[in-house]
Amino acid sequence: MAREPNVGATGATGALLIAALVCGCGGGGGAATDDPDPSFTPDEMSALAGLRYDDGPPPADPSNRVADDPGAQLFGQRLFFDPAFSGRLLEGDNDGTSGTLGQRGDAGKVSCSGCHVPTGGFVDIRSPHRQVSLAAQWTMRRTPTLLEVAFAPLYNWDGRRDAIWNQALGVMESNREFNGGRLFVAEQLFRLHRSEYEALFGAMPPLDDASRFPALTPDSAGCVEVATQQGSTFVCRGQPGDGADYDGLAPADQTLVTTVAVNATKALEAFVRQLRCGSGRFDQWLDGDTTALDRSEQRGAALFAGKAGCLPCHGGPRLTDGAFHNVGLSPATVAVAIEDTDDRGAAAGVALALTDPMSTAGVFSDGDRGQLPVSPGPALEGAFRTPTLRCTASHPSFMHTAQLATLDQVVTFFDRGGDPAGGYPGTSELHALGLSDRERADLVAFMGALVGPGPGADLLVAP
Ligand code: HEC
Ligand code: HEC
Repeated sequence: MAREPNVGATGATGALLIAALVCGCGGGGGAATDDPDPSFTPDEMSALAGLRYDDGPPPADPSNRVADDPGAQLFGQRLFFDPAFSGRLLEGDNDGTSGTLGQRGDAGKVSCSGCHVPTGGFVDIRSPHRQVSLAAQWTMRRTPTLLEVAFAPLYNWDGRRDAIWNQALGVMESNREFNGGRLFVAEQLFRLHRSEYEALFGAMPPLDDASRFPALTPDSAGCVEVATQQGSTFVCRGQPGDGADYDGLAPADQTLVTTVAVNATKALEAFVRQLRCGSGRFDQWLDGDTTALDRSEQRGAALFAGKAGCLPCHGGPRLTDGAFHNVGLSPATVAVAIEDTDDRGAAAGVALALTDPMSTAGVFSDGDRGQLPVSPGPALEGAFRTPTLRCTASHPSFMHTAQLATLDQVVTFFDRGGDPAGGYPGTSELHALGLSDRERADLVAFMGALVGPGPGADLLVAP
């Protein structure tokens, strides 16, 4: 069933004309034809109006005093493209072929832009299979877009971070992503970006004083996998719990190191906050341009707000409620197996965020962002964050597992009410919808009309 979900603005007008010519429908095309006239109940119309794209800035982030600082935006943009904060590649699938960032053992290869690829809408269009991402190792979940991300209450598919900056610190310390660590990050900032850093955040501690701060290089930073009798374990350097370089620092020096690394992540956030999808043809149509959507897209809009029941979760200008839902997805083996059948999703993620010393309630925050619930609660069992549907249509794969390859497959999944035996703990919120082939195609077409221009070209490259 090959259908074309993504009609450009000119194409849409063309399609509209052709549809009008082919069906010759004046009024009342009716359900009998394969191309019935779009129609909307007043409820559907007012619900759709609530999806109008909002050009305004994202909500302030009290946890980050440089969140909207122009100097921090520029510094963060430089850091976003800089692989200098990454340690060695650990996974053997890093064989230097196209799609990988280098060969196993290479250091200094991973930047934020390596997985959140700017020309791919800030998702991963680079890794082999274009599903989960390969950096130091394979990530456990699909790389989400960074467009519109500043509006999210909690971060990651499972909500385990409560700010963009503490998420970025997690990336630097993860042995799947940067395999760096905060001591190494602070030292690299001192070596490579000192003047820019100091212009924003003031004098750096003497991170070149090896008697106080053990010097880590790209080749000695991060973690290595060492064999044990049980299998293997990771031995890391330069982050809390390493039992070595970081843990051995004087407590005041630990605070200095962490502060430097955190300041860099706050600049990264200032950059990321600017990444937007922008309004699409759907918004032009809401604004009164009746030719902006073709008939199929209009019917899809009506279904989205009505019969297909997408709106309760995908409401608001970004078509997400920002909340976590169990949709009864049964995890399938994708090209690279993710062992996540027991993934409790937000039940585990939010619990982690609540005890995270780097959360916005902690001492490295400039103020509490106030998005964390008091406790995770049973509804978060097996629940994942509703993704935005803005600028999503062109992504190479869908769902947090990346197991669905087309929007048609996604709509089919929702139509059947999720998988019969949802693979995750908890209870699915979905029920079967009973959509026709044409209705499913209309929903797919509608999502194609939510693609905006994306960020300006100046934000897609290192400054
Ligand atoms: C190896 C690939 C990879 C790299 C490199 C990477 N990310 Fe990510 N990013 C991911 C994945 C995968 C997730 C989702 C993780 C999850 O939900 O468990 C994610 C999630 C995020 C999120 C949360 C998005 C959301 O919708 O909640 C932000 C923000 C983010 N990354 C920013 C960054 C920044 C900033 C950098 C550089 C410091 C970076 N990432 C580097 C793969 C990557
Ligand atoms: C009960 C809440 C809920 C309802 C109802 C719902 N969704 Fe979703 N949707 C989600 C969640 C949660 C995910 C992510 C699930 C995951 O990755 O495990 C998702 C994922 C998606 C994705 C994949 C996006 C991506 O970036 O991977 C698309 C597309 C989508 N939904 C469209 C729809 C459409 C169309 C409907 C109506 C037919 C719908 N959804 C109904 C909550 C919902």
